[in-house]
Amino acid sequence: MSQDAELFIQQLLAQMTLQEKIGQLHQVSPGGDFDLNLLRTGQVGSLFNADGALTGQGFSKSSSAEQINHLQQQALSARLHIPLIFGRDVIHGFRTIFPIPLAQAASFNPELAEQAAAATAREASATGIRWTFAPMLDIARDPRWGRVAEGNGEDPYLGAQMAAALVRGYQGDDLSAPDRIVACAKHYVGYGTAEGGRDYEGGEVSEPTLRDVYLPPFQAAVQAGVGTLMSAFIDLNGIPATANHHLLTEILRGEWGFDGFVVSDWESIKELIAHGVAEDEAHAARLALHAGVDMDMVSAVYHRTLADSLAKGLLPIEEVDQAVLRILRIKQRAGLFDQPFTDPQREKQDLLRPEARQLAREFARQSIVLLKNQANLLPLQGIRRLLVTGPFLRARAELFGTWTPDGRGEDVTPLDEGLRQHTPRTTELWFADSTDMALHMAHHSDAILLLLGEHPVRSGENGNVSDLRLPPGQSEFLAALAELGKPIVLVIFAGRPLALEKEIPLANAVLYTWHPGIEGAAALAEILFGEAAPSGRLPITFPRRTGQVPIYYNHKNSGRPVGSSDLFITRYSDLLPRPLFPFGYGLTYTQFSYNDLRLSSSTLRKQLQVQCTLTNCGTRPGSEVVQLYLHDRVGSLTRPVRELKGFQRVTLQPGESQIVTFTLTEEQLAFTRSDGSHGAEPGWFDVWVAPDSSSGLHAEFRYEG
Ligand code: NOJ
Repeated sequence: MSQDAELFIQQLLAQMTLQEKIGQLHQVSPGGDFDLNLLRTGQVGSLFNADGALTGQGFSKSSSAEQINHLQQQALSARLHIPLIFGRDVIHGFRTIFPIPLAQAASFNPELAEQAAAATAREASATGIRWTFAPMLDIARDPRWGRVAEGNGEDPYLGAQMAAALVRGYQGDDLSAPDRIVACAKHYVGYGTAEGGRDYEGGEVSEPTLRDVYLPPFQAAVQAGVGTLMSAFIDLNGIPATANHHLLTEILRGEWGFDGFVVSDWESIKELIAHGVAEDEAHAARLALHAGVDMDMVSAVYHRTLADSLAKGLLPIEEVDQAVLRILRIKQRAGLFDQPFTDPQREKQDLLRPEARQLAREFARQSIVLLKNQANLLPLQGIRRLLVTGPFLRARAELFGTWTPDGRGEDVTPLDEGLRQHTPRTTELWFADSTDMALHMAHHSDAILLLLGEHPVRSGENGNVSDLRLPPGQSEFLAALAELGKPIVLVIFAGRPLALEKEIPLANAVLYTWHPGIEGAAALAEILFGEAAPSGRLPITFPRRTGQVPIYYNHKNSGRPVGSSDLFITRYSDLLPRPLFPFGYGLTYTQFSYNDLRLSSSTLRKQLQVQCTLTNCGTRPGSEVVQLYLHDRVGSLTRPVRELKGFQRVTLQPGESQIVTFTLTEEQLAFTRSDGSHGAEPGWFDVWVAPDSSSGLHAEFRYEG
């Protein structure tokens, strides 16, 4: 931050009354009875979900520049004219809805994620929103947890790449540009460890695992300049994240040098009472502020109690001042002091731009994962009568997925219509809305396209399930259709990996589309009929059955690993010891071969080149996500059986080859030891260049230290 800017906020702080200072720490989600005088007297720092009710225009679902400008005007009429920052859950698109974050991760294409975040920032900022509560960076190893839909899956490396890209996309190089918004890396941290996949439940994680698995995406976000973080709801290792000084101050500020601000999650400061670490609101407020939570999201306990705690000498004023400075710093960096208002004209030109829709379509294409394609059934060719059925047949807003308060169903081409637009003239589409009708019509069709999955409300916040199978009835429907012996293309829409052990064998081809967003129908249709080829990869392991979770590729070996000869190995006696599909897995319409794995040296000193030749040996153009994995054979702590350390998306024409090169550095061998130190340890390492986490070409090298 420039010296001038730092001086400016320091001088502002020096003029503030205690009430004004506490006001900056107070975020309000106003209801219809909201008192505008709070704004006019400088007692609010941020508004969230600002809507028409406040401006006498009646309730409108979305905020608008006019409403927000009006509210900003009230805040600027206060003595010191400090602007509000308007926040909102703009999670995977604003009006133009992109695929859910888990699907975005399946693209293994951070560049696209960056572009989508930039397009989202442009739309949201056109309505006056300057702060989004995204990206969510929680590593998730348990798909029962509904919020698995909102993150980047199970891998810290992929998660970190996506984190940095999303922050760059939202914030750009210059946070004060009117079409950028402040990002908020959430939920800091360990939220995905919630026991049993039950949202809001506590979790336990060792410090090395916390640092090597759960923290890297957050650190990447901080390195990319993220303006804010949100503290998680979770009780992690006995200290709720919202009261955790070690996480919020020692690591975040001390080790990483973060100088933005931290907002609590919704009422999570007040919830410190329910957690049983605070005896009352005042105590909760002091714990959170001392830990490093600067802004109170809606619980109002800072607003209600901090002045009293200060008066009683229970709280040093420096802690309040520091939080105020951090908030003012981000407001300054976001350009709000210079440009507090939004040009209302922008709403007319910046929402739903054709290029944003194009991007949403490309993102959906690249995030759809082909799990099975027996006898190259896909792309569909020469089918005369295609029966299309299943609960997603007429889907519109159902394609969005969780957290889309500003998306509108009417902007979406329904799935049936999207299919119609992309089906070759030689194929007749038959739509069946009921199972009876489908079973009847199936007899007379040449192939069946079955659209199954879970409704968006089944995932997302608190969308936890105890059973990862398809919702009731769907599997039976598939089984009944399969009896007829017609080729079946199964398409699954979902916010999480579902356990499809029984279903996969019944279908000839399977596409996993997640919740693909506003252009999902067209993207799917293009893939079905071969205008585009699928190229997504699983960002999370797919279990066979619910009882197999948590299951993730970067697990430890154990003393009795699968594959050792003894019968007493780490497995269930009623289930194969492997996932249904491994992390990184995904097919396309052509085949790739991996050859000639070469290392630049058999010893890594500072770095090492790993190279292999990739060839498209099929008959269609295609994209492959080439993955680099590592295994440290002996460590002072047990090491994961494999860890992703790099990936590249490569597109090749039939017959074409390309040499793919990765550079491995010393830092990529490093891990956190039990004494908290971090570093690489000498010894032998395995390396794979692979199409997924369970296969690939293998080599070994030594690290001398
Ligand atoms: C609670 C959720 O955990 C968080 O992700 C979200 O941003 C806030 N509510 C605000 O809606």
